[in-house]
Amino acid sequence: MDYQQPFCNPSVPFTGRIQGALHEGKTITVTGRVLPEARRFHVNLQCGSKEKPNIALHFNPRYDESNRHVACNTMLCSKWGPEERKYYIPMAQEERFTLMFRVNRDSYSVIVNGAHYMEYLHRMLITEVDTILVYGDVEIESIAFFNPAVTLSI
Ligand code: GAL
Repeated sequence: MDYQQPFCNPSVPFTGRIQGALHEGKTITVTGRVLPEARRFHVNLQCGSKEKPNIALHFNPRYDESNRHVACNTMLCSKWGPEERKYYIPMAQEERFTLMFRVNRDSYSVIVNGAHYMEYLHRMLITEVDTILVYGDVEIESIAFFNPAVTLSI
């Protein structure tokens, strides 16, 4: 019930449903390649696919700024909150990458190419987050989901 088939080679922009929404322990792994001459792309973990959804995590590498960085943010009721920036982009233009989001109780861990990149503290309920969106100068090979086994105590 908790298994979701990966999305394979979706064209960008891409919007896909996260079955069962987010919960603690779940991971989402995006494998892809940044386009040569890429300016920007983003991956959103968001609530539905209507226009101006609430966005729990917007992950946005920006190669087009003199100080290249990744901006992360949350959009609630059509308004961005305070931006969190890191002035190191772990995925290079033209290169393949693996971008993993792991849902923790208090944060998302962002892991790039197997190395921990950042923690982003939750600013909204994870159980409302049921959609992944990819937009911009990137190609996607796959988006895969892993749900930890549920332990039942009797
Ligand atoms: C804005 C940008 C949006 C989004 C937002 C995040 O400046 O236009 O696309 O990245 O920052 O804070």
